[in-house]
Amino acid sequence: MIQFDQVTMRYPGGHEALCDVSFEIKHGELVILAGHSGAGKSTLLKLIAALERPTSGSVWVSGQDVGKLKSSQVPYLRRSLGLVMQDHRLLMDRSVLDNVLLPMRVTGLHEQEALRRAHAALEKVGLSAHEGSMPMTLSGGEQQRVAIARAIVNRPTILIADEPTAHLDPAYAREIAALFRSFHAAGVTVLLATHDDTLFSPYGARRIELVQGSLKDE
Ligand SMILES: Nc1ncnc2c1ncn2[C@@H]1O[C@H](COP(=O)(O)OP(=O)(O)O)[C@@H](O)[C@H]1O
Ligand SMILES: [Mg+2]
Repeated sequence: MIQFDQVTMRYPGGHEALCDVSFEIKHGELVILAGHSGAGKSTLLKLIAALERPTSGSVWVSGQDVGKLKSSQVPYLRRSLGLVMQDHRLLMDRSVLDNVLLPMRVTGLHEQEALRRAHAALEKVGLSAHEGSMPMTLSGGEQQRVAIARAIVNRPTILIADEPTAHLDPAYAREIAALFRSFHAAGVTVLLATHDDTLFSPYGARRIELVQGSLKDE
């Protein structure tokens, strides 16, 4: 489902953020990507979403070499991925429902079907009662759940999240963790970067760890 083949990533003018990284994630796995700040976790996730391209090596997602996709093909890749990235903030001047509808505006989905999916996604994350609320009035945990609803609204087969429980109180963090486990239980392939893998380790999640850009041998 996701495969890294000797991937090295060097940012312009920078050192190697990833160095000769190879691994495979199979369909339906729940994988925790661990590692200290600066280890390369966000870079690895961005390569999967074609938000960055590898300097060398290849990144395969659902049978496609994403480093070689034409820019016109990238939206199709993104549509099959649910992304909860740290720098994809909610629009604060739009309602919760509008935020979740946003990814479907670009797919040209019929308005009624888009609304149906948005309602369903918000129900899954337990925010049906807040559809009309503005994000600012929600707690940090609730805002994160809106971001997750937005990520799952196109029914992705792969869900990727970058430190989805960062800056949350432990109780909220546990709720978010439970949510990802429920998507995994429903058959979605889930890859989460997190500092706090104790939230997932009791549930048989596979763990891969980056140390200064290299995969640590388990
Ligand atoms: N856009 C960028 N330009 C240059 N260097 C970057 C950029 N993004 C990340 N880096 C560097 O790449 C390394 C890995 O960063 P990152 O993938 O964000 O790690 P993590 O998510 O594990 O904290 C760090 O040394 C970081 O400073
Ligand atoms: Mg990061």
